[in-house]
Parts: sequence; C-alpha cells; structure tokens
Amino acid sequence: MSQPQGFDQRDDQSDRALRPKRLADFTGQVPVTRNLSLAIQAARQRKEQLDHVLLSGPPGLGKTTLAHIMAAEMGAEIRETAGPLIEKPGDLAGILSSLKQGAVLFIDEIHSLKRVVEEYLYSAMEDFRITIQLGEGATTQALTLTLPPFTLVGATTREGQLSAPFRSRFGIRERLDLYSPDELGRILARSATLLGVAADAPGLATIARRSRGTARYANNHLRRIRDLAQVSYGNRIDVAVANEGLAMLGVDAAGLTELDRRILGCLATHRRAVGLKTVAVTVGEDEATIEDIYEPFLIQSGYLVKTPTGRLLTVKAYQHLGLTPPEADENQQRLF
Ligand SMILES: Nc1ncnc2c1ncn2[C@@H]1O[C@H](COP(=O)(O)OP(=O)(O)OP(=O)(O)O)[C@@H](O)[C@H]1O
Ligand SMILES: [Mg+2]
Repeated sequence: MSQPQGFDQRDDQSDRALRPKRLADFTGQVPVTRNLSLAIQAARQRKEQLDHVLLSGPPGLGKTTLAHIMAAEMGAEIRETAGPLIEKPGDLAGILSSLKQGAVLFIDEIHSLKRVVEEYLYSAMEDFRITIQLGEGATTQALTLTLPPFTLVGATTREGQLSAPFRSRFGIRERLDLYSPDELGRILARSATLLGVAADAPGLATIARRSRGTARYANNHLRRIRDLAQVSYGNRIDVAVANEGLAMLGVDAAGLTELDRRILGCLATHRRAVGLKTVAVTVGEDEATIEDIYEPFLIQSGYLVKTPTGRLLTVKAYQHLGLTPPEADENQQRLF
C-alpha cells in the first residue's frame, strides 16, 4: 500500500522517538488499554505468557506502538516481522524456533500471510508445536518441535480479510478507533515536550482538530510546524503559527488533505453513488489505500456514506467544497 500524504517514511526515526514506551504514556483508546492492562496484570500474576493478541484499525493509530508496549510491560523480548515478508512455512519455522520463553512475536499486516503459512501457525499458536520437514523426496522426515510458550501479536488494517479460524485463535482481539481532538491534543502536548518546542494549548488544539483523528498525522504535522516555528517564530507554536504551517501542508480548515478533497471532488462531479474503482482511477490511488486510509475518517466525519450502489457525498461534503448539493430526489438517494 502506498503511503499517503502526512505519512512520511523519512520520519521513521523521529516517529520512534515520539513512541510511548509504557501503557501509562499511551493516550486514548481507553477500552483497549483497559483490557490489555488487565490481561497483562493477570498473566504476570500467573507467571504465564500473555494470550495471543489481534490489533486492528486504520493506520497510524498505535498498533505497532501497543505491540512494543505489551512486550515491555511483560518484560519480554519482541521479534518483529510482517505478513508479506514470510514467504513459506520454513521462514516462519526459523523465526518460531528461535523465540525465547514468553517472547512477543509481532506480525504486522497479518492479513497478508499466505494461507499455507497461516495454517502452519495454528499448531504453534494452540499447542506451541511445529513440524519441520527434514530432507527431500524419499528420505523426508518430519520432526516435531516443542516451542517455548510465546505471544503472537498480529496487527491489521483489514480484519475482515482474516479467516474465521485464524481470528478465533487470538484470545484477545481489540479494535483501535480514530482519536478525538482532545486526545490528540494530549498526544501533541507530550510530543511537543519531547521535541523541545514551546506550544500553547490553543495552538496544539488547532493541530489536533485538523489531524484526521490519527496520531501519526498529528505528530507529523507537529514536526513540520516546529520547523516553521524554529526558523521564523522563535521556536513557539500558537494558533497563528499552527494555521500557517497547516496551510503550507495543504491541510484545510476541516483537516482534509489534498487527496481527501480530490476524492470528494470526484464524487461531487458524478452527483450520484460511485463505485470504489471509479474513485481510485480518477484520483490515481489504489483501492485499498482509499478504503483503508482515507475513507474511515471521511465516513466518521460525515462527508461520505457507503451505500449498496457505491460511495455517496453528504450535504456537509458539498457545502465543504462550496457546491450546491443535488436535490434529494435527483438521484433517489437520501442525503445526510
Ligand atoms: N496513544 C498514543 N499516544 C501517543 N502517541 C501515539 C499514540 N498512538 C500512536 N502514537 C504515535 O503515532 C505514531 C504511529 O503509531 P504506530 O506506528 O504505532 O501506528 P500503527 O497503528 O502501527 O500504524 P500502521 O498501521 O501504519 O503500521 C507512533 O510513532 C506514535 O508516536
Ligand atoms: Mg504499524
């Protein structure tokens, strides 16, 4: 999946620096952290490994961060890999057989594991056993290996693509939701301190409101605005500096990026429900990126709705684009 605007890969290093290391520093997602905290405490009391965990939700909300936090809270080492990197069961056998007792194995984009690899994981997850094939042809021998108990943490932006038997093997399944502006404001206050930039509360609230409910967007915006503050405004961020910086980044008053506006613009020209394929071709992005990264925020903030016949703009979206919405009976669809 290509990275959208605001998801700058070059920010990886500083992204890590802003990553909370413990559950107590992780803001928001209260139901998720409450459940995880309880499971961690219980596992620690029993001196057992944590149950397998599946984290789902749109990108940039903290799935990778939470996987690292769980390992830290359990005092366990973490091994990190991703679905597309595991080609065959043998690759997985190599990783599994080198895990230490209680270790966390984090598999990102777990929905993209090949079916044979997924099925190979089943016995490892359930019985902590794997079978290794030795030799080839007539001399093949199968060796069963008992693994030290470990915790599999899977992350996915597409939980629906996981098979039911796979999903059911995770004892703990948690879905992350978009952050409220207030929560993002708190995340930004912590990040501003770590970045050593003086930012007042209204300035941070301005950035928070326009970060698409996403921690990664908020932090990336803050870093760019810090550059502006440092070079031109004595390293201080207030509402005016935040507004200037966000305008430079192409983020509008509602927090929509250029591509958000192109998606809405495409739907506005059709003035009726449009299929995802048409939207993807028109704006030049792949369907998965639009569906997983852009739409959750546009739907949650009431700019578009999914209908059986396709995507449809709401009155709010037409108003945002400065256009007159079609009459409700013009396309036989109820507009919100
Ligand atoms: N609750 C939070 N509190 C503070 N910072 C957070 C929180 N959640 C996420 N972040 C910040 O947002 C950044 C993105 O989070 P993370 O990489 O964990 O997201 P992700 O869900 O794994 O995204 P992806 O699906 O793209 O891999 C992190 O570097 C971290 O700095
Ligand atoms: Mg991640």
